[in-house]
Amino acid sequence: MSLSISFTVNGQSRAMDLDDPRVMLLDLLRERLDLPGSKKGCDRGQCGACTVLVDGRRINSCLALAASLDGAEIITIEGLADGPELHPVQAAFIAHDAFQCGYCTPGQIMSAVGLISEGQAGDDPERIRELMSGNICRCGAYQGITEAVQDAQK
Ligand code: FES
Repeated sequence: MSLSISFTVNGQSRAMDLDDPRVMLLDLLRERLDLPGSKKGCDRGQCGACTVLVDGRRINSCLALAASLDGAEIITIEGLADGPELHPVQAAFIAHDAFQCGYCTPGQIMSAVGLISEGQAGDDPERIRELMSGNICRCGAYQGITEAVQDAQK
C-alpha cells in the first residue's frame, strides 16, 4: 500500500506516493528528488552531514520519516543560493576556508543557517561550537566554520 504526501522543497510544491512508508527524508531527497547535496555520512543521526531545514528548524534528514512530513516546508543546500548569488553563509564559508574535503559542508552550512535564523548563534566561539556540535568535520575545519558563522551574522 502506498502513502501519498505533499510538501514544499526549496519553494517547489511536490506530491508523491511513497511505496515504502519507512523511507527516510534523506533517501527521498537524494534518490527520488534528484537533490544529492545533503550527504549521507553515518545514516544514524551522529554526523550532521544530512542536515536540512524543516519548517525553519535544523534536522538530521537521515532520521526523519518522509511520511511524517506531509505539508512541511523543506529547504536543502540546493535551495540556498539565489541564482548565481550565494547565500551569505555560503559566502562566509568560502571567505573563511571553512572546509577541506567538503563532504560535511552542506550539513554545516544548513546547520549554520538554521542557527542564525533561530537567533541563537551570538558571537561567542565556544557557544557557536556547542550549538554546531551536531555537525562533525573529520578534517577539523572548526576554526574556519566558527569564524564563518560569526561573520555571516554581520
Ligand atoms: Fe544523518 Fe549522519 S547522515 S546524521
